[in-house]
Amino acid sequence: MNALLEVENLKVRFRSMGMLRALATRTSDPYIDAVCDVSFQVRPGETLGLVGESGSGKSTIARTLMGLNPAHSGSIRFDGRELTDLSQRSYKPFRRDMAMMFQDPVGSLSPRLTVRSLITEPFLIHGIRDRDRDVEAKRLLEMVGLSEEFAQRFPHQLSGGQARRVGVARALALDPRLIIADEPTAGLDVSVQGEVINLLARLQEELGIGMLVITHNLNVVRHISDHMAVMYLGRFVEKGPTEEVFYRPRHPYTEVLLSANPEPDPDARLERIEARGDVPSLMQRPPACEFHTRCPKAQEICSQVDPEVTTAEEGHTFRCHFPVNTPEDPDTDTVGAGSAGRSSRPG
Ligand SMILES: Nc1ncnc2c1ncn2[C@@H]1O[C@H](COP(=O)(O)OP(=O)(O)OP(=O)(O)O)[C@@H](O)[C@H]1O
Ligand code: SF4
Ligand SMILES: [Mg+2]
Repeated sequence: MNALLEVENLKVRFRSMGMLRALATRTSDPYIDAVCDVSFQVRPGETLGLVGESGSGKSTIARTLMGLNPAHSGSIRFDGRELTDLSQRSYKPFRRDMAMMFQDPVGSLSPRLTVRSLITEPFLIHGIRDRDRDVEAKRLLEMVGLSEEFAQRFPHQLSGGQARRVGVARALALDPRLIIADEPTAGLDVSVQGEVINLLARLQEELGIGMLVITHNLNVVRHISDHMAVMYLGRFVEKGPTEEVFYRPRHPYTEVLLSANPEPDPDARLERIEARGDVPSLMQRPPACEFHTRCPKAQEICSQVDPEVTTAEEGHTFRCHFPVNTPEDPDTDTVGAGSAGRSSRPG
């Protein structure tokens, strides 16, 4: 099946300071690269999960796909059409096919509009005037499991889970082919998180929508995504089929994230492996492997030579000189066993 969304070597750059400050501080390169050389695809009916610490560039990718930030270089193709060279005006029709659920659902909903107005606003924005908005509101509320009485409520009268459902209803209004969901479960209780994820998974299956799900929550990624990518300082350090990455992470950073994830099954729990120190500033990117200042496996070469992208099995790729969970990794003693391939580490 052809990809719906194809991103190749995307780079997004922001000014880190104004011209005057750059001159005053003699800063010759007053930019930060929030997204570096990122490539991925999403096919219809498929979900890609994007994980990484705060500031790693996840929302910047989402906003750039929607044409809300310019791409510095690289390519974004939707249904075969290049988007990076489009004007805002030409971008608009693509926003019908690509819907965004923003990171802060209540804050991104206008407080003075009723749910009916909020979920049918996309029709007005796109100049679609031949629909009965009451009928559409009822249809959309039903799709997300809310009764029609919700149409008259205001955002402050919604619980976190209901606000999220309203966000999903609004995203579905124009029958999108791709949904970009930025932190769809942040701030919700675990049971409500489950409801929202099940709703997204059901809609995806019924409607064949492609999804990009951005989250800090690895359990969400595991539950909903076919493929996942792990970001560090704007770069994908590992990417692959979700189960493969979960059970046999190759990049030490992925293993750090996974080992910090609360795992309900005690047999599957990893030894806790921690990264050292704080995430470096994007204004002072470490040379070569950017994770070397924090990596528990770092050796001298890591700060001198940029690791190449290595392909493991089935499109599983990673960037590391000393991957974990391989026969060569001295800390691995259970590769290939049971749920596994996960390393078990001495305490
Ligand atoms: N418009 C902007 N101008 C300047 N810098 C920006 C802008 N938008 C984002 N950044 C910077 O880009 C980096 C990536 O930010 P982004 O919001 O994409 O991270 P994130 O992974 O979504 O984080 P979080 O998990 O906290 O939402 C951050 O350092 C941020 O400060
Ligand atoms: S290249 Fe070196 S520093 Fe970077 S992740 Fe691999 S082991 Fe760690
Ligand atoms: Mg974000």
